[in-house]
Amino acid sequence: MLNVDQLKNIKGKVVVCRVDFNVPLKDGAIRDDNRVRAALPTIQKLVKEGARVVLFSHLGKVKHKEAPEVVEAQKAKNNLAVVAPRLGELLGQKVAFCPETRGDAFVNAVKALKDGEVLLIQNTRYEKGEEKNDPELAKIWASVADAYVMDAFGSAHRAHASTYGIPEILKAEGKPVACGYLVEKEIANLMRCVDVKDSDRPYVAILGGLKVSDKIKVIDSLLKKCDKILIGGAMAYTFKKALGYEIGSSPVEDDQLDYARNCFKEANGRIVLPVDSVVTDAFEGWTKKEVVGDNVPAGYQGMDIGPKTAELFASEIAKAKMIFWNGPMGVFEQKDFQNGTVAICKAVAGLKGAFSVCGGGDSAAAIKEFGYKESFSHVSTGGGASLEMIENDGHLPGVDILK
Ligand code: 3PG
Repeated sequence: MLNVDQLKNIKGKVVVCRVDFNVPLKDGAIRDDNRVRAALPTIQKLVKEGARVVLFSHLGKVKHKEAPEVVEAQKAKNNLAVVAPRLGELLGQKVAFCPETRGDAFVNAVKALKDGEVLLIQNTRYEKGEEKNDPELAKIWASVADAYVMDAFGSAHRAHASTYGIPEILKAEGKPVACGYLVEKEIANLMRCVDVKDSDRPYVAILGGLKVSDKIKVIDSLLKKCDKILIGGAMAYTFKKALGYEIGSSPVEDDQLDYARNCFKEANGRIVLPVDSVVTDAFEGWTKKEVVGDNVPAGYQGMDIGPKTAELFASEIAKAKMIFWNGPMGVFEQKDFQNGTVAICKAVAGLKGAFSVCGGGDSAAAIKEFGYKESFSHVSTGGGASLEMIENDGHLPGVDILK
């Protein structure tokens, strides 16, 4: 696979670069520009080489099967125009924005670019063919490109027109395709959690979040690689119920009970579950909060791992040489239920000489919020993408197509 340094003679050439500017927005403004910053080194390199840089990204979801007025509302909410000025500030140069994803306006905006200039195209998901990898759409986008760079790690698990269709066409035409610096860095770090060396053992995975069903593939894959898997968050209650504990009104997936029971049994002591919980009498507007042991009483639901579990998990983390973490331990958005997630951050921060990866998503947001970003060896910019890397033994469609 070529990287961006190996792209030669790109001065004056149109380089289409897929980035992941799927940034969180609040009241129409960017709430966290981390993903924009993460793409800067690659864009700066292309600019420095005198390429004419055309950036593609999705933002949010546009569900084209909905009624036309709903689709229009989703487009308005996910208008990528908001990113162009922020990117311009960070790059220190003007970034043009093209509100059209095809047609004369699109073609002319690309043609108007001079060497070293940057153009951001409207949200790729304005096109209904994007998520279907529509060949006709990929052809339209590929037709303006002399070369392609993939730097959207967060979207590399999607075989969409902008992540897969364009490089597929360009490769067939003998044009260069390469990965950007962000994708290169993410792959190098996450591959360490996939191809596990003996020196990285004990390898401890920490999983949290809502659903077991979202994590089945990753649990199965981690069970082949890890020495211990610590399971917290709401998904732990499906395991607890499967093992015969009372879980009150905690979230549960009844259709996953058999899976959880078998998986726990096959793990043969390598899955570690909470031994206590912080529980409340309601999710919102709760009036009673308590710490309970292995069983959650009727009328209560789990909101965070309890202090004994935090200690238990911290003691497992303290033995680790390598950590992979995905998913918070509790409802960390509310102050009362942050302790479990903070305890994981602290335990990782206390490790000396271990390699620690946070697999993006909510846990990455929590790490940042609690000020522990620097305590991790790597915090991924991709939630789904990093999980799929683990699940698929290092393979992602948006990366494999570059090879
Ligand atoms: C993400 O935020 O995980 C990526 O940008 C991918 O977004 P998607 O799940 O909407 O494809």
